[in-house]
Amino acid sequence: MTPELFRRFCALANDHAGLNLQRGKEAMVAARVGKRVRALGLKSAAAYLERLEADGSGEELAAFLGVITTSFTGFFREPEHFDILARAAAVWARRRTPVRVWSAAVASGEEAYSIAMTLATTLGEDGDWRVLGTDISAPALAEAGRAVYAAERLGSIHPTLRRQFLRLQRRGRDAGATFAISPRLRRHVAFGRLNLAGPPFRLRGGHDAIFCRNVMIYLTAEVRAELGAELARLLRPGGRLFLAHSETLADPSTELELVGPSVRMRPGDPLLRAALAEGKERRATGH
Ligand SMILES: C[S@@+](CC[C@H](N)C(=O)[O-])C[C@H]1O[C@@H](n2cnc3c(N)ncnc32)[C@H](O)[C@@H]1O
Repeated sequence: MTPELFRRFCALANDHAGLNLQRGKEAMVAARVGKRVRALGLKSAAAYLERLEADGSGEELAAFLGVITTSFTGFFREPEHFDILARAAAVWARRRTPVRVWSAAVASGEEAYSIAMTLATTLGEDGDWRVLGTDISAPALAEAGRAVYAAERLGSIHPTLRRQFLRLQRRGRDAGATFAISPRLRRHVAFGRLNLAGPPFRLRGGHDAIFCRNVMIYLTAEVRAELGAELARLLRPGGRLFLAHSETLADPSTELELVGPSVRMRPGDPLLRAALAEGKERRATGH
């Protein structure tokens, strides 16, 4: 791919998804663009760029953003976040109001279902809680909605949770087998397309937790700053923002307090603060 073509593909990814594709990513961009070129039966990356720039419907642009973003994920990735979520959910249970958690770059769904398994365990399968998963990538969201995963992707789920929330869908030797998320868990989880580069979002605020993990690293500093402020707005007081361990918010003035490994909290929930302090004390004294 020529430097000029690379620059124009990067400009599209930046303008439409806030993606920060820099020098050094040429081979990755060329390989991923090549995938679409072959899928569409086009002759070259240049022909594909022409198609993209003339795409009035936005459909091919969505497909391009879907292939250009990295969608690596897994169940219970960065597992300590789910321990923190479970402890917070035990406190929310006392509140007796619906619990809402948003996975803001959900990829193929594993993060949303890990959140759902955690909430179902703490708040009950019939509890009043919901998980929303959003992503820019339509193919990733389609996979999330199918809720069917190959056996080898389930190793990070505790066996008890696996027995409770996964149903054998297709038998097969080792890697051939697939499992579906149980309908009782799925009915709590919804998916939709949302571009994190375009705040303000048309979402109701008051989320108890937002997971926005392993996506900030791909976004420009400008987009990250706007996004941080928007996520803070969409949390309820005491709500938690989970970033990936390697990530930070671009804007240090964001009102969110750091309360754990890459976990931030919107201040203002005395109940949660008291319960967390109590838990910390109990752990420290061993009672
Ligand atoms: C590496 S995955 C992270 C998945 C999951 N959050 C995790 O931590 O395992 C990054 C996801 O961010 C999505 N993404 C990238 N840019 C985005 C944007 N501007 N808006 C919404 N999603 C975006 C990608 O499509 C991809 O599914």
